[in-house]
Amino acid sequence: MAGGAGQREQARREVWNAFLGSAAQQGDPYALLLGVPEDPGPLYAQLREKGPLYRSAIGTWVTGRHAVAGKILRDRRFGVRLTNGEKAPEAIEFDNSMLGQDPPNHTRLRKLAAPTFNPRRMEKWRSRVEEYVDELIDRILAKGGKFNFMTAFAQQLPVRVVSELLGIPEQYWRSAFRLTRRMAHLMDGDASPEVADDVLQAIDESARVFGEIVVLVRENPGENMISDLLPALDDGTLSLDELIALCTFLILAGVETTVNLIGNATATLLGHSEQWAMFKDDVSLAPGVVQETLRYETPVQQYRRIVQEDLELGGVFLPADTELAICAGAANRDPEAYHDPDRFDITRSTTRRGEPEVLSFSMGMHFCLGATLARIEAEVAMTAVAKRLPDLRQVAPVRRRNSYIVRGMLQFPVAAA
Ligand code: HEM
Repeated sequence: MAGGAGQREQARREVWNAFLGSAAQQGDPYALLLGVPEDPGPLYAQLREKGPLYRSAIGTWVTGRHAVAGKILRDRRFGVRLTNGEKAPEAIEFDNSMLGQDPPNHTRLRKLAAPTFNPRRMEKWRSRVEEYVDELIDRILAKGGKFNFMTAFAQQLPVRVVSELLGIPEQYWRSAFRLTRRMAHLMDGDASPEVADDVLQAIDESARVFGEIVVLVRENPGENMISDLLPALDDGTLSLDELIALCTFLILAGVETTVNLIGNATATLLGHSEQWAMFKDDVSLAPGVVQETLRYETPVQQYRRIVQEDLELGGVFLPADTELAICAGAANRDPEAYHDPDRFDITRSTTRRGEPEVLSFSMGMHFCLGATLARIEAEVAMTAVAKRLPDLRQVAPVRRRNSYIVRGMLQFPVAAA
C-alpha cells in the first residue's frame, strides 16, 4: 500500500485496535471473540445468554442463537451488500463472486454454477477422491516419522479436487496451491496492511492465471466447470471477469474450508479416544464424524448479513444497512437446538433425529454450493485415516489459524505410529 494511503490505513488500524481492546477489557464477549481465544465456547455461551440479538460494545449486532440465525438467513430482507449496492466498507472480497452479491446478480451466477455441483454429479467424485487420498497416505507412510497433518494431508486433498473440478490443467496445480495459501488470509478477518496487500496481489495474479486457463480449456474442453460455462460465456450470460472471479473464489471457498473440516475432525477424534475407537471399529460412521465435526468444531465460525430495509426482529429495530454477525459456531452449540451441545458424539445424527440442521454451510440463498463435495471429501479422508493411520497420535502442540472466522490449524504435528 503506497505512502499516504498506507499511513492512513495504519492509523485506522491503531484506532480500531484501541477501540477493540477497550471493548474486550470491558468483557464484551464479541470483542473478546475477535481476539481468537483458544476455546471460544464460553464466550459463545455468553453471547447466547445476551438474547436473540445483542449489540456488542464495538457496535456490531450479533446473534449466536440457532433459531434466530436460521430465521435471518432465510429472510430476503437480509442481504450481503449495502442498499446502495456497494460492499460493506471493511470487506475485502471479490466484488464479482456470488457470495458477495444480492439478487438478481446472485441468482444468475448461482444458476449458472449450480449444475456443476449437482449432488448426483458430485457422487461420481467419490472414487476419484479415494484415489487421491490413497496416494497421499502412501506418500506419508513411505516417508515415515513425524509430519504436519495439515500440510502433508489436509491441505493437499481439497486443492487437487477443486483444481480438477474447475478444469485447471495439471501444470497450474502448484500455482493454484500457492495462490490459495496466500488468499487464505482473506478469511482471517482484519488483516494487517501488508497481508491485505499481498491478498490483493494474489487475487490479481489469480485473475491473470485463470485468464490463461480459460483459453487452454477452450482449446481442450472436458468434464469440468469451466467447460460447462463456456456456452454462457459465448452467449453473454456470463462475462469473462465473472467467470474468473468465480474460479478465484472457488479455489479459496472450496479449499480453505474443507482443509479445516478434515484437520478438525482428526484432531477432535484424537482428543476423544472413545469416539476414535468407535469410529475405527466401524468406519460406516464416517458421515456422522463429518456431521458432528461440522457442528462441534465449525470450520467457518461466522458470516455477515446486511439489513436491506428498516425492520424489527426479536423486539429490536434494525435500520437498513445495519450489519449483523451470524455466529454459526455459537448457534451450532445452542442448547435450545442440540441436546448436551458441548458433547462430541459421532452418533448424534442417527440417534437424535429431531435436532435441526447445523449452520456450518449457512442456509437460505447462500447455502454452500459445495456442501455435498465437502462432505464426500471429508468422509473419504476420515475413512482412510481410520483404516490406514489407526495409530495416529499428536506429538507436539498445535498452532491454530489466527482467525476469528475460520477455525482450524496451521500446524498439527503427528506421527503415524
Ligand atoms: C467444510 C467445507 C465447507 C464449508 C464449512 C463451507 C461453508 C460455507 C458457508 C458458511 C457459506 C455461506 C456463507 C454465507 O452465507 O455468508 C458457503 C458458501 C459457498 N461455498 Fe462453501 N463451504 C465448504 C466447502 C465448499 C466447497 C468444497 C465448495 C466448492 C468447491 C464451496 C463453494 C461455495 C460457494 C460457491 C458458496 C457461495 C454460495 C452462494 O453465495 O450462493 N464450499 N460455504
